[in-house]
Formats: sequence, structure tokens, C-alpha cells
Amino acid sequence: MAQNMNEHTVPSDPQELSTAILDLWVEWVTNNNLQLHPGQIRQLEAAIRTNIAHAYRGQRIPHTPTGIRTLSPYAAGQTIASARKKSGVTEITKLSSNEHAVGPSPQAKDTVSQLLSELHRYPEVQHRDLHEALANHHGLKKNQFFIGNGSNEAIDVLTRIHQPPGAVGVISRSSFSMYRHFLRSNGVLCVEVALNGMQQDRMALLEACRKEGAAFLFLTTPHNPTGEVLSEKALLEVLDEVGPGTMVVVDEAYGEYAEPHPDFSPAQKLLERYDNLVVLRTFSKAFGLAGIRIGYAMSNPSIIQAMDQTRQPFNLNRLALSVAQAALEDVGHLKETVQTNHTERIRLRTEFINLGLQVPDSGANFLLVQLGVPGKTITASLSDKGILVRDLASYGFPDAIRVTIGTPEQNTYVLEEVRAALEVEK
Ligand SMILES: Cc1ncc(COP(=O)(O)O)c(C=O)c1O
Repeated sequence: MAQNMNEHTVPSDPQELSTAILDLWVEWVTNNNLQLHPGQIRQLEAAIRTNIAHAYRGQRIPHTPTGIRTLSPYAAGQTIASARKKSGVTEITKLSSNEHAVGPSPQAKDTVSQLLSELHRYPEVQHRDLHEALANHHGLKKNQFFIGNGSNEAIDVLTRIHQPPGAVGVISRSSFSMYRHFLRSNGVLCVEVALNGMQQDRMALLEACRKEGAAFLFLTTPHNPTGEVLSEKALLEVLDEVGPGTMVVVDEAYGEYAEPHPDFSPAQKLLERYDNLVVLRTFSKAFGLAGIRIGYAMSNPSIIQAMDQTRQPFNLNRLALSVAQAALEDVGHLKETVQTNHTERIRLRTEFINLGLQVPDSGANFLLVQLGVPGKTITASLSDKGILVRDLASYGFPDAIRVTIGTPEQNTYVLEEVRAALEVEK
């Protein structure tokens, strides 16, 4: 092909032209003794093929990058309304999305009615009050917080602001799907590493980072869906080994729930030592505010500044800003939430284990339950009774379900119905 090009005969087929250009490029890289990471080579190859294919196709609308074209929208669990309709059961027990068992602090709820007369006003653009409240809550500086429309927005913005050429992000294969989603949406190649049993394989993740010259490494503690908690030793092992050019994102969406767990160590303690560390938290879980969409990232001021430079001006609505602040102030509600969850998680895990099931230790508000039969079957039986749990086939665990810790009554109910559904399968 390269010869054809030298002879000024440009191939008419887009595939052949891409290959010819790649051949020339490889020759040039080799002749110039350039060292490139496999991720950079793959990225360039994808760019050449996509651009040439598009050029041949003429004006295509939308002219969507390959990374986005192959994405699927987020597959959220069933809503209470659709579950009611499907099952005919009025009282739905929703334990499928790791939501709060009882909802937000009463103080946070009261804030909503006070705000109704101000809905025609734009929200405060710099989130000053909430920055201050978060700084006090975590003992950090105000300029160490990026507040977003859910921690999802922080993941989106982070993967947009760190774009070295040929950027690659490394994640665990069975983890929160939004890491992959936003890496690829923002043109970063996503490399996935299998779990080692029920644990994030730190050595294999580090090896992938080294091999790819990774721009990002995502860790989750407690991990979704296994519940695995990372100790300080585990975090240090990664942060000390990974290169300084790799942004290490530690997602602690369930961090508050993990406080009583003996191994859990909040990664924010390490922010002072590692400039490449970003810690994610959210109001969606232990604060019970999933519906209002607010979460945040903690990092060094230069990463935070870059994030703020690219976000939408009014990314947080008035309700979210005020309700989150009220929730943060109600320390009692948070403490009670965490304690009840801890007690109930231990009880439910013990009871599932007594049924002969395997349930890894969890620091979160959910349990991964290995059933020994397809998760789909049990999910369907529970759904007929108005109980929603998460089938984990898409996470790579076809024989498991994820059960959110609910109220004590809900937990007893789900336990009884899992037992009954398994009896039928025997
Ligand atoms: C690990 C993990 N990170 C982040 C999120 C999303 O949080 P948010 O609602 O703040 O966008 C979830 C939600 O389920 C999650 O499981």
C-alpha cells in the first residue's frame, strides 16, 4: 500500500486508504525511533479510520466519534410506578438501586417548601455556601471541592479535563458503568481489567496503567457491586506505584456507609500527599438525595479549577444547593442512617449465609448474593411479589443478585422471598 501511495495512486476504498496511511505512519515512527504506548497507537488508528470513513461518506449528521457511536444509554433499574403496573402489587419494595432506606433528613425536606417562592431566580453560580459547608465537614480547603449534578457529572468533567494524547483510562471490568461511559464519551480509550474473585485486582490494574501509560485509574471503595472496602495500605500501594501522570480517581459514593468498617480508610486523608488523587462523594446514597442530583469531587486546587472552568454555569439547581447543605448539617440523621445500615447489613448477610449462600463482606448499603442459580430467575420471582433487586449478569455475575439494605421490615421480607424462590428452584 505504501508503495501505491508513493506512486501517487490514492486508493479509492476508505479501508485501503486508512491502511496505507497507517503503513506510512508506522514506517515513519520506526525510522525515527519513537516510543509509543499501545493505547496511543490504537487511538491514532481509530482516528485515521474514522476520519477517512467519514470523509468518504461526505457530510454525515451527526458526525459522531467512534467512542460515542458504540455506547449504550445507562440502563437504570425499574421505577416504582412501572413495577406496580407490571406486578399488580401496590406496595413495591425497591432494593435495586442502592438508594437510602428511609430518605433524607427532615430538615432537608423542610428546605424545599421555603425555596418555592424563589424558583424564578437563578441559583448561586459558584456554590460558595456549600463549598464552605463541605470544607468544614471534611476539614479541607474551600478550593478543593468541585460540586456537580451528581458525582456522575464529576466523572464526566474529569475525563474531559485530562486529555494527554492517546489518553487511556483503566477500570475494573465489573464496576460502575459510568466510568467506561464517560471515558469513551470524552474520547479516552477504556481498558478493563478483570476482578480477582471479589476484589479489584490492584496488581493487574497497576500493570495495565504501566503498559498503557494510563491517564486515569478508577478505584471504588466500597466497590459496586461487590461491597469491597479498600484499606489505607491498599490505596497507598496503588498511589505509590502508579506514575504521577495517572489521575487516580477513588470513588467513595458509599463512603459514609463504610465508616464503621474496620478496613475502610477515607482517601481524602491522602490528598495532601498525592497531587494526582481525586476522591468522589455523593449526596445520592447516605444522605438520601438521589432524586435531587448532587455529588462532589475533592482534589488539589489545580484539578478543581480546571473542572470548574468547563462545567455548565448553573450545573446545580437552587433546590439541590440548599437541600444538600441542610442534609450536611443534620449530623444526627447521617449517624443514625449509617448505624442502622451497619446493623441491618450484618443481620441480612448472616441470614443469607445461613441459607447456604455466598455473600462477600460489604462496607456499603448493599450485598452481592451468590445464589447458585441464575440471578435472572430469582429476580423475576421477586418482581412478581413487588420486590426489586438487581440482577448482576451485566456485571459479569450471572448467578448473583445485588440487594440494597432497606428498612428492617423490607430486609426480612426480601430474605423470606429469596428463601421461597430458591426452594422452587431446588
Ligand atoms: C460506585 C458509584 N459511583 C457513583 C454513583 C452515582 O452517583 P450520583 O448519583 O452521585 O451520580 C453510583 C450510583 O449508583 C455508584 O454506584
